Amino acid sequence: MSSVDFTGELTGRRVVLGLSGGAACFKAAELCRLLIKAGATVQVVMTEAACRFITPVTMQALSGRPVLVSQWDDREPNDMAHINLTREADAIIVTPASADFIAQLAQGRAGELLALLCLARPMARVPLLIAPSMNREMWAHPATQRNLHQVARDGANVLGVGDGEQACGEVGEGRMLEPEELMGELIACFTPQSLIGQRVVITAGPTFEAIDPVRGLTNLSSGKMGFAIASAACEAGADVTLIAGTVARATPRGVERVDVVSALDMQTAVVSAVADADIFISAAAVADWRPADLAEQKLKKDGSGHVPHLTFVENPDILSGVAHSPRAQAGDLFCVGFAAETENLRANAQAKRARKGVPLLVANIGPATFGRDDNALLLVDDEGETELPRASKRALARQLITEIARRVSGVDA
Ligand code: CTP
Repeated sequence: MSSVDFTGELTGRRVVLGLSGGAACFKAAELCRLLIKAGATVQVVMTEAACRFITPVTMQALSGRPVLVSQWDDREPNDMAHINLTREADAIIVTPASADFIAQLAQGRAGELLALLCLARPMARVPLLIAPSMNREMWAHPATQRNLHQVARDGANVLGVGDGEQACGEVGEGRMLEPEELMGELIACFTPQSLIGQRVVITAGPTFEAIDPVRGLTNLSSGKMGFAIASAACEAGADVTLIAGTVARATPRGVERVDVVSALDMQTAVVSAVADADIFISAAAVADWRPADLAEQKLKKDGSGHVPHLTFVENPDILSGVAHSPRAQAGDLFCVGFAAETENLRANAQAKRARKGVPLLVANIGPATFGRDDNALLLVDDEGETELPRASKRALARQLITEIARRVSGVDA
């Protein structure tokens, strides 16, 4: 089951989903389900070998369309499935791509419909994504690596592989990427590369301020918005570092993650990461205060009914510190702050933007966003206010990245 909700993210997109032979064909079934849920039209094409691993009936049921296997298919009025399919497609993804199939592509062979349509695709318009899957020895073999290199040189987007337990019982590189990761790759290939070459640092989630070895203070931030922004920035071509507070969320593919606990930890990680960054997005819910003293042992009840009295010290304001740094002041680091408010959103947002010294502040109502999958945002900058109406956090994250890219580059994405 996917932990990310892709609903509607590929509405109107036409995807040819190609399967060659491999035990990972079962993952292509899940990918097909996710694609349909995301709103894509999916045409499945299978090789003869793929049909030995999973039946076309399964793929037909999931895609809602008859599966094509042969190039000699008289259901196609002109009997030219390879032309019809590729002229109508927005993208082709071959998953799993076996060692043999990759060798066919490298040689430009067209013996089966799937290889034939890859060769016939209009290269300038229809991206071809290849998700390899094979035993670790086959993966490491120089012939496979040579073929993959050739296929990439010929214009395909060759995706990586996972490392771990394989169907054959061996352990190593060659596992096919997970359906959720493949969805991310497909979405990225439809996303304008508005942040290409930009280094982006994002903080997300709550911090945890320890009271004693087993207790602490934190808040209800889920990290969903910050993680969605990291994912959207990555899809837009940025080089992303995500500094995550205490949340157990999957790291978006392609994102470098640094885990931290307290506000002080987060500050250290941020200061080091922004040294050569172009954009800093502070989405974390940083605790404003921490206990002045950390008890070395667990605080115990003594039976008298007396409660411990905690004193607090203020945490550093990480965002304000970065926004007032020489690089940010010189315009080399574009800083974006968030504001979690419970009332007077507009007035508080304006005041916070001035206080933090950031060019762009993104305001939201804390209780209406913490832990939820959707949100509504108010962007405040020199130009005035822009409302991003309630939508999924993933959709909002994409809109926010477009807004940031426009401000950084001065060009509409
Ligand atoms: N922030 C920060 N360091 C802190 C507190 C907040 O970097 N010690 C950042 C947050 O990541 C966010 C912005 O500052 O981008 C505003 O956070 P918010 O919690 O809304 O505001 P506070 O600065 O804590 O102010 P207040 O509690 O008065 O609303």
